[in-house]
Formats: sequence, C-alpha cells, structure tokens
Amino acid sequence: MRSQRFLIVAILACFLVTIKSTPLSDISDSDESTSVDEKAQKRPDDDSEFDGFPFRDDDESLLDSSRELSVQDHNWDVLIFTQQWPVTTCYHWREENPDQECSLPQKKEFWTIHGIWPTKLHQMGPNFCNNSANFDPDKLNPIEDRLETFWPDLKGKDSTEWLWKHEWQKHGTCAMLVEELDNELKYFEQGLTWREEYIMSRVLDASDIHPDSNNTVAAINNAIVKALGKNPSIHCLYDGKNSISYLSEIRICFSKSLELIDCDGVKQGDAVPVGVPGGTIITNCHIGSLVHYPSLVPPLQRKSHWKLPLVNVYKLLQFLMWFTL
Ligand SMILES: *[C@@H]1O[C@H](CO)[C@@H](O)[C@H](O)[C@H]1NC(C)=O
Ligand SMILES: *[C@@H]1O[C@H](CO)[C@@H](O)[C@H](O)[C@H]1NC(C)=O
Repeated sequence: MRSQRFLIVAILACFLVTIKSTPLSDISDSDESTSVDEKAQKRPDDDSEFDGFPFRDDDESLLDSSRELSVQDHNWDVLIFTQQWPVTTCYHWREENPDQECSLPQKKEFWTIHGIWPTKLHQMGPNFCNNSANFDPDKLNPIEDRLETFWPDLKGKDSTEWLWKHEWQKHGTCAMLVEELDNELKYFEQGLTWREEYIMSRVLDASDIHPDSNNTVAAINNAIVKALGKNPSIHCLYDGKNSISYLSEIRICFSKSLELIDCDGVKQGDAVPVGVPGGTIITNCHIGSLVHYPSLVPPLQRKSHWKLPLVNVYKLLQFLMWFTL
C-alpha cells in the first residue's frame, strides 16, 4: 500500500516536470489548443504586450488635481458629452488585465454614453462639487432600462467603482449648477436625450465610416462636422505593440443653456488642437496614420499559461486513480 502511494507520487512528479518542460502542443489533445493560441504563446516578451496603450482615461486620471480645484471653485463654462465605442473600451480593459470581464451591449452597433462632464474653458474640472448630493440608484428607476442599454457599465462587476455612481459624484454634482441638470434623474436623462439626438454610428455611417474600417482622423472629423455643424474632440487608444490606433471616444460640447457648440477651447485630456489642411482637429489620434474602428474585440493574444497544464494534471490524476486503485 505504502509503496503504491510512493509510486503514484513519483509518477505524478515525473509528469509534472514533463508538463512544465514540454511545449503545450505536445501534450494537450486537440480540443483545447488552437494554432492561433500557440502562435500567440510563442511570441517573445508577451508579458509586456500592452504597454502600448499609453493613454489613461482622462476621466479617471484627474482625480487628485481636480479634487483640489473643486474645493476652490465649482463654476464651469461647457458641458462635454462623451460617447464611447464599447468595442475599444472592452479591448483596452481586457488588455490591461485578461481576467477582467467586459460586457459589450447585446446590440453591437451603437456607441454608449460615458458621461456629461462640466468643464471650465482651458482647464479640467471642476469635479466632486457637492459631497452631500449622494448617489441614490432608486432615483433612476424610471429610466433604468434605458440606462442599462445606452449608458452601461461595460467594466461590469470588476470595476472599482460603479459607472453611474462615479459619473454622478464626480461630474453630476457639478452639473447641478444649471436647473436643467440639478438632480440625478435630470442628469442621466439628459445623457439619454443627447445620445438619441446625436447617434454617433449614424453620423459616421452617413459619411461611409463603418465599423471594421480604417479612416484618417480628418475623415472622422469631417463626418461629424458635416452632420452636426460643430467641432468635436476625437479620441483614440493607441496599441503601441501593434502600432494600431483604435477609435475610442467622440466628445461633443454644449453650452450652459444646453446648446450644441464647438469644443474649441475645451481642454480634453491629451487631445489637442492639431492644424490640418482646411482647419483644426481636436484629437489625440495620430494625425498621419489610419484610425481603426473595430467591429470586434481582437482575440486575446496571451492566453493564461496555466490552464492547459492544469487540465492535463487533472486528466493525469484521473488516469492514475484508475490505474492504481
Ligand atoms: C448639494 O446637494 C444637496 C442635496 O442634493 C442640495 O440640497 C444642495 O442644495 C446642494 N448644494 C449645492 C451648492 O448645490
Ligand atoms: C484596418 O486596420 C486593421 C488594423 O491595422 C487591419 O487589421 C484591417 O485589416 C484593416 N481593414 C481594412 C479594411 O483595411
């Protein structure tokens, strides 16, 4: 009995060593591995795969400096209404950490709302303007279904802070300055109203810019200016490893009386006015290269290394139990 156990342990140890040192393709049986995964696994230095996304979300990165500003002055000039392309958001989120789940909207053709951000000209913020205006999810009951559809928290349960709560506390409490947005329900309802009025996929479609295409940022800008008559701000996420710019956000601007205006003079994170023949574009996208408008989140390039061996260890254990008992 004892020697039998010893034998099992010894065999198991041998197999574990073998598994560790054998390429996955040699031990796994067909179903779990695909040639695509294998290729990806063999890429060198795949741990640093997405160093390439250098741009932090403005909305997240400003926390500290904006808190200071908000203490001093809560006034603002312009509202930035930001819509995001969920495919790019999800891609970025997953590349930051493959274990993070992202829930794309069921219908994949539409842009979703990120937020309405009150902003001073040539500055960021203010943010967090009223600590006593707590976020109360119940206030959103009348529009919850539509919010789930058009203003979803793509980052799902893994996100450190629930999108609606975050947007309300950071931006909504500042938007309260105008009567049209002076409570939670009004703030979120305004987002829905603007999304319906400025449907980005339609705006782009009208100029033949469809998901899965590559376009210059100038072409994207022209499409928006043609449809809306105002200058937007266009945002990309750059995947440095593969040298691809992904279309990420389109922001349009409104005055305090909620009229659509040019985004000129509005500070937009790392987006800056760039001179091009025939005008100026506010963007962080590479002006000289094509911007990819992806229809699907690209396949995961680094598959977790431990999954296949574990499956095999499990199969091995089953085999040993069958063999020895
Ligand atoms: C802050 O929020 C509270 C609660 O909604 C409200 O009663 C108060 O008027 C707000 N203060 C300012 C300065 O907007
Ligand atoms: C657009 O660019 C992406 C990324 O570089 C590329 O994979 C794709 O084939 C291009 N699509 C077209 C239609 O050129």
